[in-house]
Amino acid sequence: MSSPRTPQPVDEAFAFDPTDPRQAKDFERMAKIRREKPVCRPAPNVVLTTRYEDTARVFRDSKRFSSVGDMRAPGVVVPTEESFLGELDAPLHPKIRRVLLKGFTRSQAAAVGPWTRGEVKRRLAGLVSRGGGDLMNEFSIPLPGSISAHSLGIPDALHDRVMALCDELLHSTWPTTGRTERGEGIAGSFPELAGLIDEQIRLREGGGGDAPDDLLGLMVRFRDEEGWEIGAHHNRTLVVNILAGSLSASYMLGNLIYRLLTDAGFERALRADPANCLRAVDESMRLEAPVAFLMRTAREDTEIGGVPVYAGEHIMCHIASANRDELVYDDADSFRLDRVDPPEHLGFGIGPHICLGNHLTRQVGTIALEELLAVLDGHRIELAPDFEWECVNHLQEYGPEHLPVSITKRG
Ligand code: HEM
Repeated sequence: MSSPRTPQPVDEAFAFDPTDPRQAKDFERMAKIRREKPVCRPAPNVVLTTRYEDTARVFRDSKRFSSVGDMRAPGVVVPTEESFLGELDAPLHPKIRRVLLKGFTRSQAAAVGPWTRGEVKRRLAGLVSRGGGDLMNEFSIPLPGSISAHSLGIPDALHDRVMALCDELLHSTWPTTGRTERGEGIAGSFPELAGLIDEQIRLREGGGGDAPDDLLGLMVRFRDEEGWEIGAHHNRTLVVNILAGSLSASYMLGNLIYRLLTDAGFERALRADPANCLRAVDESMRLEAPVAFLMRTAREDTEIGGVPVYAGEHIMCHIASANRDELVYDDADSFRLDRVDPPEHLGFGIGPHICLGNHLTRQVGTIALEELLAVLDGHRIELAPDFEWECVNHLQEYGPEHLPVSITKRG
């Protein structure tokens, strides 16, 4: 193998700019690469995987492929306590994940099901009474975060404010640089958000009669056999992580709602078999992966799909492309509800970092479809006549920016 420091030549025939959202989410380009050079170098120091097997292998192999720093701009290093779970490696990653997992099991998701249905109905009823609105801003964006906030134990009255601040944080310079012009870290750049979360942490410290017994309480009071704890600073970051991570579910909801409003056959299929609502969530996660790709860094010289890869190279793991791999899925470019035991899509990632929110997400997607069908029983929901589908302005996220609709009673 050549020296790790030797820059590898870019594959000119397949070159594109991975930091340009349009090029990075160009599915036709990815299909061509998948057919002709499934593991290639589209830019200096970047190795792209487009097939299912190669992409899943990188996700599964956290020993060779590190998650550290891949959210951040080159050269930016943030303290561990300011790191999201998805940007930590072992040994810390599995220790923290084990604590958080207790709150994100299938049965925990089922337990918040009735609350979720109430929230879905309340938000849809508001839209119906107003005669419509933007189904992204007024439904899909706030809903998943409030369910995650509820799961953590954050009081309902704080949800809208905390989520608005998380949304602001995600769209600020904090994710890439760890700071904004206001200051360093979450506390320096978003003092109000840090203050609101810290107060919730403080209420749970020490336990005792009045301390809420919820997931955040568990995170705050957890100690292992050696006395290790997550710590207040890191718990604050992880709360932001859980709330901000929920926004991916917003784009999944947007993708499903867009299909429901534009494809009469989809609505008929959902009505024909109630189990199709859950199938539709997974098929949407496959075909319209809301997180289109993720990055890793090679820790050592290795290979992917027979292509040599060198320590320090960044791996662009293309989830959306892997999910359309024709070697794995029949009729891969079509939305099909009749797939029989399809291989697990990579929409939630796979391996040690697989999405913590996957059960919650499947549940909120299913409930949202069921309740939208109930609204459609008595109402027409129509996209604005001048509507044009536009992808959210974010490097990795895939889904509609807006869904302006009118809602009218059926005559
Ligand atoms: C459609 C909805 C969602 C999508 C597409 C999505 C996608 C993903 C993906 C692809 C990963 C893997 C990251 C990696 O391998 O580096 C991940 C991890 C994660 N997700 Fe989600 N997610 C969704 C919903 C949620 C929700 C609702 C929550 C909040 C409860 C959440 C919290 C997390 C967290 C904390 C991780 C890090 C897990 C770890 O590194 O161990 N996600 N998500």
